[in-house]
Amino acid sequence: TQSLTLLGLESSCDDTAAAVVRGAPGAAQVLASVVEGQTGLHKEFGGVVPEIAARAHAERLDVCVKEALARAGLGFDALDGIAVTAGPGLIGGVVSGVMCAKGLAAGTGLPLIGVNHLAGHALTPRLTDGAAFPYLMLLVSGGHCQFLIARGPEEFTRLGGTIDDAPGEAFDKTARLLGLAQPGGPSVEAEAEQGAARRFAFPRPLLDRPGCDMSFSGLKTALLRTRDGVIADKGGLTRQDRADMCAGFQAAVVDVLAEKTRRALAAYLAESPAQPMLAVAGGVAANQPIRAALQAVCAEAGAGFTAPPLALCTDNAAMIAYAGLERMALGKVDDMTLAARPRWPL
Ligand code: KG4
Ligand code: ZN
Repeated sequence: TQSLTLLGLESSCDDTAAAVVRGAPGAAQVLASVVEGQTGLHKEFGGVVPEIAARAHAERLDVCVKEALARAGLGFDALDGIAVTAGPGLIGGVVSGVMCAKGLAAGTGLPLIGVNHLAGHALTPRLTDGAAFPYLMLLVSGGHCQFLIARGPEEFTRLGGTIDDAPGEAFDKTARLLGLAQPGGPSVEAEAEQGAARRFAFPRPLLDRPGCDMSFSGLKTALLRTRDGVIADKGGLTRQDRADMCAGFQAAVVDVLAEKTRRALAAYLAESPAQPMLAVAGGVAANQPIRAALQAVCAEAGAGFTAPPLALCTDNAAMIAYAGLERMALGKVDDMTLAARPRWPL
């Protein structure tokens, strides 16, 4: 197959990103990946403000594009296409990205390729490991939590997912309730290392029900109740109380993800894939105890395990450029009617 070089744009949440990827499906390389976070802009509001995000994306996208091309040492003439996240996400940001990509496509005459952000995450193991279809994917971040079987560049089967919050949200909320730094995942993981997971009882939501659906909002509530109970008893929280709560909370998340992964793997392995493989992506995949548990579940089931490097696990534009490359290799391009979609299930 012929080698393609694509520019990718990502602006669906609070990262403005541009990247250049070159190669063929299952054999591509990241030539440059620029990610500009917006956390500073939203800090005082305690969450992403869509209007502020959209304006910042509109202001920073061309800067990121210039930077990505400069780092790749390429001009627009070296490109075969321009890929852009067309959804799902915060609509203002997605519109900023789609407008920018349309402008670039009109100015250069290059084909425009709209990409589903979730497909970008789900195809990342093809970019980083050349993973062969079909593989099982666990997307687990601040915004997503689902099991998918990836069968082709645009063919995914959803086996289950969270029915309420994503685990990253629960980590962030836990950190907020205990006065730990944001993002909560790394702070809670660090505290948990000093804690006793068994001191406080946390629920394992939906483990008693069949299937791969998960729920994490109950864990937040349990943590709030536990915290308030200790404060009512002792008038405050010690460092050890915090560590024990973090450890108990994290152990519950680990148990739920491990058991649901066991079930998702069983459903996937029943199809006798030639090279069985579980890939995880998303910020929560950085968590060591979670990684270790998933790895153990795979070893037990006889499946391979891979987790892309963190910079490609979290939101980035290399995954968008790569997903665009896969679509383009299938002859699928869009035109100026490409629409931004706030909701777009895989
Ligand atoms: O993929 P990501 O960067 O952004 C989206 O949500 O799309 O994921 C960010 C989430 C945050 O909620 C953060 O707390 C969580 O990933 N996270 C972690 C860890 N590092 C980041 N959660 C648990 N343990 C970690 N070490
Ligand atoms: Zn994402």
